[in-house]
Amino acid sequence: MTPDPESTPAISSSGSYWVLQTREMGYAFGLNPAGALVNAYWGQRLPRLEDYPELLSLPARSSFDHPLNQIPEEYPTVGGPKYTEPALQAIFGGGERDLALVFQRTEVSGEELIVTLRDQHYGLWVELHYRVWAEANLIERWVEVTNSDQEAVRLERIFSATLQLPPGRQYALTYLEGRWFDEFEQQRKPLEVGNLVLESKRITTGHDGSPWFALDAAESGDAASETEGGVWFGTLEWSGNWKLVAERTRFDRSAVHLGLNDWDFAWSLAVGETFRTPAVFFGFTNGGFGQMSRDLHDFVRGHLLPHGRQARPVLYNSWEATYFEVNEGGQMRLAELAAEMGVELFVVDDGWFAGRDRDNAGLGDWWPDPVKFPGGLGKLIAYVQTLGMEFGIWIEPEMVNPDSQLYRAHPDWTLHFPHRERSLMRDQLILNLARVDVQNHLIEVLDRLLSANPIRFIKWDMNRNVSEAGWPDYPGEPREVWVRYVQGLYRVWGELRARHPQVVWQTCSGGGGRVDFGTLRLADQAWVSDNTYAPARLQIQEGYSLVFPAVTMESWVTDRGAKQVPLEFRFHASMTGVLGVGGDLNEWSEEQRREATQHIRTYKSIRDIVHWGDLYRLRSPTQYPYSAVQYVSKDKSEGVVLAFRTHQGRTRDAPLLFLQGLEPEALYTVEGVTDGAGQQVVRSGAAWRVVGLRLELSDFRSALRRITRVNTLRGDGVGA
Ligand code: GLA
Repeated sequence: MTPDPESTPAISSSGSYWVLQTREMGYAFGLNPAGALVNAYWGQRLPRLEDYPELLSLPARSSFDHPLNQIPEEYPTVGGPKYTEPALQAIFGGGERDLALVFQRTEVSGEELIVTLRDQHYGLWVELHYRVWAEANLIERWVEVTNSDQEAVRLERIFSATLQLPPGRQYALTYLEGRWFDEFEQQRKPLEVGNLVLESKRITTGHDGSPWFALDAAESGDAASETEGGVWFGTLEWSGNWKLVAERTRFDRSAVHLGLNDWDFAWSLAVGETFRTPAVFFGFTNGGFGQMSRDLHDFVRGHLLPHGRQARPVLYNSWEATYFEVNEGGQMRLAELAAEMGVELFVVDDGWFAGRDRDNAGLGDWWPDPVKFPGGLGKLIAYVQTLGMEFGIWIEPEMVNPDSQLYRAHPDWTLHFPHRERSLMRDQLILNLARVDVQNHLIEVLDRLLSANPIRFIKWDMNRNVSEAGWPDYPGEPREVWVRYVQGLYRVWGELRARHPQVVWQTCSGGGGRVDFGTLRLADQAWVSDNTYAPARLQIQEGYSLVFPAVTMESWVTDRGAKQVPLEFRFHASMTGVLGVGGDLNEWSEEQRREATQHIRTYKSIRDIVHWGDLYRLRSPTQYPYSAVQYVSKDKSEGVVLAFRTHQGRTRDAPLLFLQGLEPEALYTVEGVTDGAGQQVVRSGAAWRVVGLRLELSDFRSALRRITRVNTLRGDGVGA
């Protein structure tokens, strides 16, 4: 029986047992007879509330194994006879390092359940917050800790959630890892006894990982596939240091703990203060990794992105064409060529601001270089607008070069330790955004730039990772700097967004070094990688698509690999996201520009489907030289398939592509697919799924085919 999401409330309780339900997921926990808050269930939504299992209650196994090591605690703390991974660790004023939380009460307010716990002795209050996004199939979880004691408490670890997996299975963890130029690489590892730790210590989300996970059954027969099987997944809304611990105990218990990284972390919670963690969003689906991604995509598009459903313009970015050789005339010429091709947004990248002739000077001085732009940006922007395009620009606000007016005036504004050399990377240092004066300065300078110029798009970059994360003037706990930095970043960005709501932002950190649910509340788009070689990009983009939707995925057609990879292939690869062009248009022949114009026109006719429809990954570029993705509009009336062959695999034959997501009973055509008599082939959605579609491609060729609903089998008038 399929449960009716309308018939049971999102939050139900019976005594001290609570059930949270979304479209497809059930999640239950309660108080066991010993008073411990214990998880009872996380997985497929069950038909009746009575179906949810009772709380596990166990006798001690031996004098060595207290039951607390075996029961799945909902929010485990350091304290008592426990050796399993904690989510919360604190030290009280007198040095006591043991937390004993006692259940106090629950409160339901709309779609939110709050469970309040308090330390047995000290005035430390812990609130577990659960917000149910029933239709989106996700639950949002975070923690608030308040100190109502007489003395400060030092938090040493405070994760957002512990997520207990149902017992009885071994799980495999799917996660993303990478490095600069090679982000979002998919990995899958069975959880063995012990901990598997993923983290960032870079003050950003990092290229080397994403605070996201997916778990499925490790046994091959039970493992989830792209199209079916149980997947437990979640992600953290945070853009700084994070940590994920996937734990498997010796007692058949698996859990994921996710939150702020406790490495070099501490927070002194003064009397009367509250600390709120970032949120974790988690879900479950039986529809495999594909459905997991579609759930996440819908949530990002529907609830995170600042500009929601607003159309995303085709953009041109000058970086790979000019690097630091930016000047008014050169940019105007590029703008003319871009406009002719149908580009809608012209973005000047690095190199436009005061003193920025190379990468070792200028960062911090956010006004137009007087030599390159003698009259300011006004003339270029006006010209871009006459050409019918909007104007965008690149900034890197958190950074400063020692060779800049800003650094000369405020050397103390960077993260540093007084008796340590400040490590330079790309000749730059990091401003300490934890400082309110630094935040205010950035707000003022960037507000001035945005107020003086009709800028519609900003690429916010960050081109190095942290070192010497010191804040010598700070009188409090020095290790708070990691969190306060990110809070400062959110404040600056949030304030600028509020003052200039028309501006669309892109998050970039040397490519995909800072993409997460936190930045996607501020930025509508992300620069996924500096690697713009299309065949590599297909793989990077696939990894990205596990979590983030196409409408956030900016992708440029550049000259990288142009000798080998046709323009059409490069365009098709970029059309699977937000299309941009980043090649040196001065070097493109008239014929190439004509071809590009055609591709941009085609893209504009499909972008609504790509951006707002559902994604189906038909064949993975990480596994096959012939890969394909498909997008289907939400009303299932149209779709598009994009297929790519990089090189000849073991066989020359094109694989069958089994189309998905179409209405089984409706009839569809696929552009260019005809029968022997040259007639369009018409098949039901169900048939395209099992009969499939074969598109012959030679090496480095690609294809784009539109799918159109033509009628329904029942002839009930749906479609054209
Ligand atoms: C980073 C970005 C690039 C470009 C350069 C400019 O590497 O990822 O796209 O903006 O900085 O310095």
